Amino acid sequence: MTPKPLANLSKTIVLVGLMGAGKTCIGKRLAERLDLPFVDADTEIEQAAGCSIPDIFELYGEAEFREGERRVIARLLKGPIQVLATGGGAFLDLSTRQEILSRSISIWLRADLNLLISRTSRRNNRPLLKTGKRRDILKRLIEERHPIYAKADVVIDSAHEAPDITIDRTIKTLKNHIDKLAGAGASP
Ligand code: S3P
Repeated sequence: MTPKPLANLSKTIVLVGLMGAGKTCIGKRLAERLDLPFVDADTEIEQAAGCSIPDIFELYGEAEFREGERRVIARLLKGPIQVLATGGGAFLDLSTRQEILSRSISIWLRADLNLLISRTSRRNNRPLLKTGKRRDILKRLIEERHPIYAKADVVIDSAHEAPDITIDRTIKTLKNHIDKLAGAGASP
């Protein structure tokens, strides 16, 4: 039997990054490979609120959505070890970021503008992309958010490639990170 990759993992893995970076797609497959549960924070928020994210934005506004996002992610981080995909704005919130940085291993899934545009064009369910031209909005978000996402523990470039290739790179990077933590006497 092949050994489970990252058998010594003791923390939840959290994916952060912009809309369209592939957090859900990569997160699901990574969870399968690591034999861990997968949770999508946006889905959990929708379940807790009893309505969709576009409806939360429309009915209650973005501030209320962020409040719910903060609560849901804090709760999920206190649960069992899993792979958690967060919405693109979650890591921008100071309190959520501190929780993620202290309780998990965070991965910034980084993608370039053209990839984000093409991936987000497949669905029309993101309220922040409805307020202007997709390219302009994503360009601005890259400028504003990339320096913050860079605070994540590791960075993985999300590229035009089969997801399994991205997952292989992710597992390798996580292994190095965990080995480094273990070498430094910290809990992986
Ligand atoms: C948002 C990203 C979305 C969702 C909401 C706000 C953001 O999640 O949480 O529409 O602020 O970037 P995805 O990154 O999964 O699309």
